[in-house]
Amino acid sequence: MNRIRILPEAVANRIAAGEVVERPASVVKELLENALDAGAKTIRIEVESGGKRMIRVIDDGHGMIHDDALLAFERHATSKLRTSDDLVSISTLGFRGEALPSIASVSRLLLETRDESEPEGTRIEFAGGKLVGVKPAGLPPGTTLSVADLFYCIPARRKFLKSDSTELGHIASLVTHYALANPARQFVLKTPTQVIVDCPPVEKLSDRVYQLFGRQSLDELVELPASSAPFRAAITEPSLESDEETALLTVTGFASRPEVQRPNRNGIYVFVNRRLVRDRLILHAIHEAYRNILPHSVFPAVLLFLEMPYDEVDVNVHPAKVEVRFRHPQFVHDFVRDSIRQALTKARSIASFTFAISW
Ligand SMILES: Nc1ncnc2c1ncn2[C@@H]1O[C@H](COP(=O)(O)OP(=O)(O)O)[C@@H](O)[C@H]1O
Ligand SMILES: [Mg+2]
Repeated sequence: MNRIRILPEAVANRIAAGEVVERPASVVKELLENALDAGAKTIRIEVESGGKRMIRVIDDGHGMIHDDALLAFERHATSKLRTSDDLVSISTLGFRGEALPSIASVSRLLLETRDESEPEGTRIEFAGGKLVGVKPAGLPPGTTLSVADLFYCIPARRKFLKSDSTELGHIASLVTHYALANPARQFVLKTPTQVIVDCPPVEKLSDRVYQLFGRQSLDELVELPASSAPFRAAITEPSLESDEETALLTVTGFASRPEVQRPNRNGIYVFVNRRLVRDRLILHAIHEAYRNILPHSVFPAVLLFLEMPYDEVDVNVHPAKVEVRFRHPQFVHDFVRDSIRQALTKARSIASFTFAISW
C-alpha cells in the first residue's frame, strides 16, 4: 500500500519552508533523519571529498514501494503528515516532504530502495532535478541514497563550500550527535581511507559516550539520573484534560564536572525528543545551573535529552528544524536547570567525601 501522499496546499503553506541544502552536512542530516524515520537499525554513511564528490547513506529501514519511490521526489510528498492537525504533534524527524526533491535538484542522485513486501526493488536516477531513469532492480530491503557532485549545476554555490576536511568535520559531528541520540542503532561513517565512526548498538547512553569519546570524557562527566516532572505543575487552568494530567517532562544526559572548562559552547548538545536542537532557553538554563560553579567566560560540556509529549513542542519553526518552541517554556527551563544543578551538587559532595577519606 502507498505510504506517501502529496500534502494539500493549505498544509504545505503552513510549513516553515526554506532551502534545506546548504552544504554536504545538511544532505547527510536529511538522509540520516529519513533513515531513522524508516526504522533503520543500521545506518552506514560513506563520503568522498568531504561529501562534495559523494554522499551515500545505506539503511535497513522499511524501504519504499515502487510508486512511493517516484512520489518521494515531488514537492511536499510525505508519508509523515496528513492534515494541518498533525502539525501540532509531530513524532517523526521529517515532515515537510522537501528534502528529496531539494537534494535531487542540486546533485546527481541515485535512489535504490525495496519495501519488504515487494519482490523487487526500484532504482531511480536524477540529475540536476531531472528524472534520468527508473528501473526495477534486485535489492535487499531498505534504502540506499547516493548523492554525487553536490551543486555541480550551481557553480556559485559549489564555490562557497569549505575545504574537504572542514566539510567532513561538519558531517562527523552531525553523525556523532545522531549516534548519541540513538544508542540502540548502529552508525558507521567512513571515507575511502578512514573509518571515522563505527558504533554497534549498545544498551546505555553511557556506553555510547564511551564508544564515541572514550574513557576520559566519560570520567569528566556526571550522569544526570533520569528525572521527570508532570507538566501539570506548569498548567494553571483549573480543569486539565486527561492527557495533560499525565504528561511528563523527562531529562537525562550528562553534564561536565566543575573542573572541566570549555572555551565555547561546542560541547553542549541538546536533544528534544531525539531531535538535535539549538535553543537559547535551554542554553540559558544550563548557564544558570553552572552559576557560581563555573566562571562567566567558560562553558561546560553538556549532553541533554529532553523527552516530552509531541504536542508540548512545536518543531515547525525553522526550515532546518533546529529551533523549537515549547508550550511551557518557563517550566522546561526551570526543570532543566534544577536537574543539572542537583546532579552537580550531588557529585560534588561525593567527590569531597572521597577526597576526605583518601587522606
Ligand atoms: N530512507 C528512507 N526509507 C524509507 N522511506 C523514505 C526514505 N527516505 C525518504 N523516504 C520516503 O520519502 C518521503 C519524502 O522524504 P523527504 O523528502 O525527506 O520528506 P519528509 O522526510 O519530510 O517526509 C518520506 O516521507 C518517506 O516516506
Ligand atoms: Mg526527510
